[in-house]
Amino acid sequence: MTAKTASERVRELRSLIEDANHRYYVLDDPQLSDADYDSLLRELLDLEDRYPELRTADSPTQRVGAAPAERFAPYEHRVAMLSLANATNEAELRAFDERVRKLAGGAQSYVVELKIDGLATSLQYRDGALERGGTRGDGRVGEDVTPNLRTISSIPLRLRSGQAHEHFGDGAIEVRGEVYLRKSDFERLNAERERAGLPVFANPRNAASGGVRQLDPRLTAERKLSFFAYAIVMVSLSNHPEQRPKRNVMVSLSNHPEQRPERNVILSGRHKAPQSKGDGIATQWESLELLKKLGLPVNPHVARCANIDEVIAYCERWEAKREDLDYEIDGVVVKVDDLATQERLGAAGRDPRWAVAYKFKPREARTKLLDIVITVGRTGTLNPNAVLEPVQLGGVTVRNATLHNEEYIASNDIRPGDIVLVTRAGDVIPRVVGPVLSERKGKLRRFVMPDRCPVCGADVDHPEGEAMSRCTNAACPAQVLERVRHFCSRGAMDIEGIGDVMAQQLTELELVEDIADIYALDEKKLATVPRTGEKTIANLLRNIESSKSRGLARVLTGLGIRFVGTQTAQILAGDFGTIDDIAAASAGELQQCEGIGPEVAASVSLFFAQRANRAMIERLRKAGVAMNAPKRARAASGKLMGKTFVLTGTLPNLTRDEAASLITEAGGKVSGSVSKKTNYVVAGSEPGSKYDKAQSLGITILDEAGLRSLLA
Ligand code: IVH
Repeated sequence: MTAKTASERVRELRSLIEDANHRYYVLDDPQLSDADYDSLLRELLDLEDRYPELRTADSPTQRVGAAPAERFAPYEHRVAMLSLANATNEAELRAFDERVRKLAGGAQSYVVELKIDGLATSLQYRDGALERGGTRGDGRVGEDVTPNLRTISSIPLRLRSGQAHEHFGDGAIEVRGEVYLRKSDFERLNAERERAGLPVFANPRNAASGGVRQLDPRLTAERKLSFFAYAIVMVSLSNHPEQRPKRNVMVSLSNHPEQRPERNVILSGRHKAPQSKGDGIATQWESLELLKKLGLPVNPHVARCANIDEVIAYCERWEAKREDLDYEIDGVVVKVDDLATQERLGAAGRDPRWAVAYKFKPREARTKLLDIVITVGRTGTLNPNAVLEPVQLGGVTVRNATLHNEEYIASNDIRPGDIVLVTRAGDVIPRVVGPVLSERKGKLRRFVMPDRCPVCGADVDHPEGEAMSRCTNAACPAQVLERVRHFCSRGAMDIEGIGDVMAQQLTELELVEDIADIYALDEKKLATVPRTGEKTIANLLRNIESSKSRGLARVLTGLGIRFVGTQTAQILAGDFGTIDDIAAASAGELQQCEGIGPEVAASVSLFFAQRANRAMIERLRKAGVAMNAPKRARAASGKLMGKTFVLTGTLPNLTRDEAASLITEAGGKVSGSVSKKTNYVVAGSEPGSKYDKAQSLGITILDEAGLRSLLA
């Protein structure tokens, strides 16, 4: 193929891929199969490899191309991002309408939009290409997070062809909207973090906001964020704002009249922007239509209401239906539809008079904490759970809630008998927030964690610096049950037929006392399980048999080693190939694997150091359980090849595991302790004794930015 035809094909491929992305992410109506999409993308990648001069920043192949940043540059909003006044009930909505009618001199129709619970974001497009994007910050200056926003699939890197120019001549436009995380993506992210032993996010908003503010765009990409556009601001390009800020003319649709009212021109029938061919966009509704035409995702539930009664009905409807959506909403934004009227109403302080946020009632309820009961987890953790007087919360009856750990109970002074506040964030398990102290009557006893396991009576250990107390008896029936359940679960050995009930029966009857006993089950033993017929037994034995060939990664996952979830198990299996090699590896060797930090390595070493565990693995082997996997070649190049790092303290933007994977991906090693062989210590806030040791040995100490610049 000649360069000429290659460039034509590249253009064609980009347009096909952009169309497919738009259908998939924006219209939610894919028409291309995944395989066809992949093959187009592969062809484009291939052509861009062969003809690098054809690779452009707005190519769909370039979403995750940027190197990590050291910090974010400021992002100045050319038109300030306003906040909104709240209404919390019908009366306040009616009062808003009255004020609007009085000021506008007549009844108004409104546009109502779901208030997405995410992170306000601004995007600038120039000549149709995404140029910059930033967070809201204080409304005037936010952070420039352009490379991160580029990873969000529903944000088009190019506006749909033709449309931008038709409407704005050469104008640059600024789009405002909300970056958010779908509940399903939030659940997936938290499940992954939990498996990896990382702290989980309290709600999708926190995860989204942390995601947008990652210094490494690859970490943003992993969160799988989404975007909805809700406003459009136009900025004249003919007046290059950076060059001649004084004469900058801003054409604002639905935005900020108060900052520079004399220079803000609303694009409407009456106030037509001089430099725009804007064909009379006069309403918020039309600007939403325009956003859609430009290829931006607009929430499908936006509506136009002729009067405040319709607005109230919309708010009530969505307050009741909010759980049906796959994203969090915390209210409804009500906007005067007519843009000229918006301009006339202006703002009162920081809040526009033409819009209001109707806030849903918080999904928080008060109820009585009847008791605190302890369940014992797979690794022996003693988990405190609240037993509540049943209460309605966000459409469901809540009877139980988590109390996390004893530290949480003590620091929030939660006592059985208290009236407590319970919330549900996202679709996660309800959580007790704290006691309503004004309601505490008489003397209530503080909760004390038992010093013996409530299930088996063994000693409880509470290691210094750890949040959880643990039952020390590995044979504790509660632990055994949880381990069996976990081993047979879908993500692990996937033994159909051993679910919650069967696992409980098998452990209660002492037919299964450790995982390996599963493979010693036979017809005779299973016949002693109540209500289990011949056919069930035959099926079960067949499923147990076929689980033997799931491979090393699944076995490792199933063993339930602390901090070893699916992903870590796959890494270990791929790097070492056999369980014996993993068992024989030192903590230092384990840490040479991608993403395996000192904590994980220590946990794996500890597991294999225990004789009972080694014996159990022998029995699995004898039973014919496959414990090998094809070995993968390790990274043998990279900027940090041959360098050993030690991490200590809390880094501002990266978790320890994230920092460790950046290092190992670049060929470096992460070790758990400082020695003369250590090349660098990366220290965050509140570093431990490793910091002092590094100083005394004269080892280079880096902060997060220092690490970034080594990687850059
Ligand atoms: S309009 C002046 N529309 O809610 C109008 N905001 O205080 C400014 N939000 O954090 C905002 N969905 O990011 C608007 N459909 C929507 C919205 C929305 C969510 C957020 C916004 C800001 C807060 C408003």
